[in-house]
Amino acid sequence: MKIATDQDRLTRELETLAEFTDAPAPAVTRVVYSETDLRARQYVKSLCVEAGLAVREDAVGNTFARWDGIEPDLPAIGTGSHIDAIPHAGRYDGTVGVLGGLEAIRALQRSGARPRRSIELLIFTSEEPTRFGIGCFGSRLLAGTLDESAGARLRDRDGRTLNEWRGTAGFDGNLAGARLPAGYYAAFVELHIEQGPLLERAGIPLGVVTAIAAPASWRIWLEGEGGHAGALLMPQRRDAFCAAAEVVLAVEQAARGTGAADTVGTVGVCDVFPGAVNSVPSRVRLELDVRDTDAGRRDAVLATIDRACEAVAVRRGVAVRKEIVNADPPAQCDARTVEALSRAAATHGLAFQKMVSRAYHDSLFMSRIAPTAMLFIPCRDGVSHRLDEYSSPEAIAQGALVLAEAVRELAG
Ligand code: GLV
Ligand code: MN
Ligand code: MN
Repeated sequence: MKIATDQDRLTRELETLAEFTDAPAPAVTRVVYSETDLRARQYVKSLCVEAGLAVREDAVGNTFARWDGIEPDLPAIGTGSHIDAIPHAGRYDGTVGVLGGLEAIRALQRSGARPRRSIELLIFTSEEPTRFGIGCFGSRLLAGTLDESAGARLRDRDGRTLNEWRGTAGFDGNLAGARLPAGYYAAFVELHIEQGPLLERAGIPLGVVTAIAAPASWRIWLEGEGGHAGALLMPQRRDAFCAAAEVVLAVEQAARGTGAADTVGTVGVCDVFPGAVNSVPSRVRLELDVRDTDAGRRDAVLATIDRACEAVAVRRGVAVRKEIVNADPPAQCDARTVEALSRAAATHGLAFQKMVSRAYHDSLFMSRIAPTAMLFIPCRDGVSHRLDEYSSPEAIAQGALVLAEAVRELAG
């Protein structure tokens, strides 16, 4: 039976979802558990209910919307992504996989076919690390890589815990209970924008992801001595921000130093205390992100950064303390699921290329508990995590179509 996606509807729904933002349009800011995130969830859930899907939520708000198959006791086929967005982001990161996944299910429903296995749309909680410093905590819980202690341990910048936040957002229950039983999914497939330039440059409409690079993240605190910007003379200074500046440059140098295009290092957060123009900074907090397709090379970069921190501490008389937030291994996608996606693209006459994802995704953790692969569509100039992120309605609808075709095959 022929499958067709409704491009206009999907485009409209993506536009509506982008209206749930705490930044002025066209930017999207939707941080997990904010009022805006909760309202956006309501909108997406209402679309799922409208499609006749059974919706449930777990202890942190991971949301499952299920279309029962003919044999509902068989392991299901999962698809989905996230709707949280980092500050001043665009509208496609994650949302394409959620609303595109929903449209794929609706396209299968319209085709008149009823799959053997159930198909479940997943909306992961907090793929982005904005509030708690750690990315993918929803999928980490599903995969069992975070335990109950995360509820009290994970805190926002003001010290408010995950447990407090999820309680206010209306999610409760045991965190350990969020872990999915072994064999829950027969396969998991995530549709996403590429967030890089390769597909667009090659003029190829689809990417089939075979591996996901290994991310790591640290928080670093530097403590020196503050004082009056006029009266505290230069020879006496132990300026925490100057020390932090050296650390930031050491990160850049270490990442560039491998000579490998796949090594990247970023310090994207820098809080300076007390943050007054006429006060010498006494305390700084940095957040560091280092990734590589080669986990060993990434860890060598982290070790170089660690040594640089120690050297800066001694030279500048500041205390440096670090917390390892995460250091995850890379993921290999499942060969059978990769082939299902490749066949689905070929069925619709669409070219694809196999590729590595340099961004991380919830699929990094789903791959630990289910045969997993990802489908990428091009985005303009490879831009992402910016308000000018863009994928065309045609590209998105094609992605949803190929996703539907692959899910149909996998669901049997
Ligand atoms: C996901 O948003 C990432 O930072 O790769
Ligand atoms: Mn993102
Ligand atoms: Mn994403």
